[in-house]
Amino acid sequence: MLLHLLNVITAYRPNKFSKQLKQATKQKHDAIESHPFIASMIDGSLSDFKYAIYLNNLLPIYKAVEMCLFHGMDQDLMQSEKICNDVNAYVNYLNVNIDKPEYIFNNKWLTHFLAKDRFLQKAELYIRWLADMYGGQIIKRNIRFHSKYVFDNLRKDIQVIRSMIEDGLDDTNIDSLIQEVNKAYEYHHELADRINELSDD
Ligand code: HEM
Repeated sequence: MLLHLLNVITAYRPNKFSKQLKQATKQKHDAIESHPFIASMIDGSLSDFKYAIYLNNLLPIYKAVEMCLFHGMDQDLMQSEKICNDVNAYVNYLNVNIDKPEYIFNNKWLTHFLAKDRFLQKAELYIRWLADMYGGQIIKRNIRFHSKYVFDNLRKDIQVIRSMIEDGLDDTNIDSLIQEVNKAYEYHHELADRINELSDD
């Protein structure tokens, strides 16, 4: 698994703006990576119920990114269909209603996303797709329904997403994208906080 991940990481040579983006958002990445909610996904202690709520909150974000930024994209990169299948699998397995208002925490995030221009909308493309492609390869080991993390050609898919992000990225706009990525990490952090506070019964 680790060798596979190393192979994936080294598949792409980032340009100087990608390097800058990664470096300037690393603190937020490391904070979310070690959040107790994410850590519980890795050690297998997260309940199916909480993971289902998490997925159901992320689904509209993925759908919004695909609606605004994906046109004629490779099917392998359309994450929302896979997530829908995973959500349905959890709902059938758990036999619960996860659409109750007390389980929805994405309104602010979604409103913020839809009000941005297309360039800054790439912040969620960067965070969500690359999270699935890198961290997701570790996370999926302890997740019951995990088609979200399965890619037919991970190395190629990473390159496609990276080049979408790098397209048009330059000295004049890198700072604004960094700011948006850090903001998107904060929304993600808040989502993890809210779900962690829920009880499992
Ligand atoms: C178990 C948790 C996680 C692990 C172990 C993990 C691990 C990794 C690794 C190994 C990379 C590749 C780093 C490199 O290129 O050197 C990466 C990249 C990335 N991860 Fe995570 N990650 C985790 C969670 C997350 C989460 C929850 C998010 C977002 C909410 C996220 C967003 C990203 C992004 C955006 C990148 C691309 C960074 C870049 O190269 O510009 N990760 N992660």
